[in-house]
Amino acid sequence: MPSSFSSLLLFALIASSQAATISNELRRQIVASNNCCQELITKLGSDKVMLPGSAGFQELSASYYTPQESELVAQCRVAATNAADVSEAVKIVKEGECPFSVRSVGNMPWAGAANIASPGIAIDLRNINATTLSADKKVASLGPGGTWGEVYDTLDPYGMTVVGGRSNIVGVGGFILGGGFSNLSPEHGFASDNVVNYEVVLSDGRIVNANAASEPDLFWGLKGGSTNLGIITRFDVKAYPLTPKWGGFRGHTISTGPAIFNAMTQMVVKLRNDPHGGGSVVWGYNEIMQNDTIFSSYAYLGADVSQTDLFDDMLAVPFIPGTDSIRGNTNQQSLSGEVDDAFPSGLRRIFSTVTLKVDVDMVIGIYEKCHELFAPLVGKPQLQWSASFQPIAVTHLQATAANGGTPLGLSPADGDLILLNLNTVWASKTDDAAMESAVRGVIAWATQEAQTRNSYHHWLYSNYALPEQDVYSSYGSVNHLRLKNIQATYDSDNTFGRLWKGGFKL
Ligand SMILES: Cc1cc2nc3c(=O)[nH]c(=O)nc-3n(C[C@H](O)[C@H](O)[C@H](O)COP(=O)(O)OP(=O)(O)OC[C@H]3O[C@@H](n4cnc5c(N)ncnc54)[C@H](O)[C@@H]3O)c2cc1C
Ligand SMILES: *[C@@H]1O[C@H](CO)[C@@H](O)[C@H](O)[C@H]1NC(C)=O
Ligand SMILES: *[C@@H]1O[C@H](CO)[C@@H](O)[C@H](O)[C@H]1NC(C)=O
Repeated sequence: MPSSFSSLLLFALIASSQAATISNELRRQIVASNNCCQELITKLGSDKVMLPGSAGFQELSASYYTPQESELVAQCRVAATNAADVSEAVKIVKEGECPFSVRSVGNMPWAGAANIASPGIAIDLRNINATTLSADKKVASLGPGGTWGEVYDTLDPYGMTVVGGRSNIVGVGGFILGGGFSNLSPEHGFASDNVVNYEVVLSDGRIVNANAASEPDLFWGLKGGSTNLGIITRFDVKAYPLTPKWGGFRGHTISTGPAIFNAMTQMVVKLRNDPHGGGSVVWGYNEIMQNDTIFSSYAYLGADVSQTDLFDDMLAVPFIPGTDSIRGNTNQQSLSGEVDDAFPSGLRRIFSTVTLKVDVDMVIGIYEKCHELFAPLVGKPQLQWSASFQPIAVTHLQATAANGGTPLGLSPADGDLILLNLNTVWASKTDDAAMESAVRGVIAWATQEAQTRNSYHHWLYSNYALPEQDVYSSYGSVNHLRLKNIQATYDSDNTFGRLWKGGFKL
C-alpha cells in the first residue's frame, strides 16, 4: 500500500509524464521505483536518500561536469558514504527491480553515462572520497568519489603520488575503471594497471575484495569491465615517490602542425630510453582565439630535465609568442590546473574517440575534416572543438603487460599508437543535434579513412567514447567473451545487466 508520501510522488510523476499516454510498463516502473526510494529512506535515512527539490539533491545533481548529465532528475538520489550503504542500495534495487545509475564524480559528458531520469534511481558515490596511505607508503586507498586534485593534495605531504588524472577535477572512479591515462603512464601504464585491490559490491549485495590472490578473474575483469561487474567502493593502488615536475603548454599556428606532431612522435620514440615524460598535441578552435590553433603539452617527472633529450624536437618547433607556460619546479596540481581552465565544467560537451597508428597525414586529415564540419557552426555560443592527439607509448603498453595485462585488448606489439579525443563544447541545448551530428561526421570519416590508409587501430577508449561506440567489441572477441563469462559467474541472473543503466554494456 502506498503511503501518502509515495502517493503524492506517484501522482506528481504521473501528472508530469502525461497520465493519459503513459504505458502500463512505465506506470509499473514508477510504482516500483517509488517503493525502492521509500525502502531506501527506511534503511539508510532521509539524509542519505534525497528527493528532487531538496538542497542535497540539487547540489549533487548540479555537480556533474555537463548540463546534459545535470538535467536528468532521478526519482531519488542515494548519497552513499560507505560500502555498506552501497550494498544496502543494491539489495533494495534488486529486490524491487528498480533501474539505477552509478556516479563517482560525474565527468563523463553524455546524458545517462552516470545519471538517470525518473523513474530511475541515482546511486551517488561523491561522498566516498577519502584518500589514505598505508604505513609503509606502498599503497594508497582511494574512494571512487574523490577527484585527482583531492588525491594529490592528500598524498603530497607524504612525498608520494599515484598514477592518476592530468586534470584536478576528474574523478577517481570512472577514470580508473576505463583505464586512465596519466603523466606517469609511459613508465607505469594505465591507472588500472596499478590497482592491487578493488573493494567491490556485487549484484547480490556482497562486499568482496578482488585482487591477484582473491577473486582473480573479477580482479582482471574490473581492469576494463566498468559498469557491468560490480560497484567499486575503494581502489587500493601502488604509490610512487613524488618527483619534482617540469612542464606546461605552448601555442602554435596551424601551419606548424606537421612539425609539432612529428616532433611529438620523436619524443614518444625516445620514451624507450627515458619513460619519465609525456606530451600531446591538440588542434582546435575556440571563440576566444577566434581561430584554429594548436597546443602542445609537456610533462617531465625525471630528476633533471636538462639531462634528457626527450623534448629537444618539440621545443625546437616555433611557437606563438606569449603562449609558453613551460616551467620547472612545478607540480601535478599546477599542470592539471591548466587543463581544468581549458575544460571548465558547466558547458554542454561531448567526447568522441578513435585510436590510430602513427600517421601525420591522418592527423592533418582529421583536423581538416573538423575544420570543414564545424565551420558552419562558428557563431554558436561558446563553440569550441579540440582534437587532442595523445600518444599511447610502447613503454606504456609494456608496463600494462608487466602488471598482468587487462581486458582492454592492447599489446606492446601494436607499437606506439595515437589516441584521438575529439572534445566539443557549446552552450545551448538547441544546438545539441547540430553539434553531435558534426562530431559523428568527423568520427565516421576518421574511422573509414584510417581503415583505408591502414592506420586504424581497433581499440576504443571508454572514457572518451560516444554512447553508441562499441567499446567492448573493440577489446577483441577473446577478451569480450572472457568478460561475459566473468559477468555470468558473478551476476548469474543478470541483475546489473537489466537494472544498471549508463556506461557501456558487455
Ligand atoms: C577535464 C577532464 C580531464 C580529463 N583528463 C583525463 C586524463 O588525463 N586521462 C584520462 O584517461 N581521462 C581523462 N578524462 C576522462 C575521464 O577519465 C572520464 O571522464 C572518467 O569517466 C571520469 O571519471 P568520473 O569518476 O568522473 O566518472 P563518472 O562520470 O562518475 O562515471 C563514468 C562511468 O563509470 C561508471 N562508474 C563510476 N564510478 C563507478 C564505480 N565506483 N563502480 C562502477 N562503475 C562506476 C559510471 O556508471 C559511468 O558509466 C578527463 C575528463 C575531463 C572532464
Ligand atoms: C567528501 O565526502 C564527505 C563525506 O563523506 C562530504 O562531506 C564532502 O562534501 C565530500 N567532498 C566533496 C568535495 O564533495
Ligand atoms: C588566424 O590564423 C591565421 C594563420 O595562422 C592568421 O593569418 C590570422 O591572422 C589569424 N587570425 C586571427 C583573428 O588571429
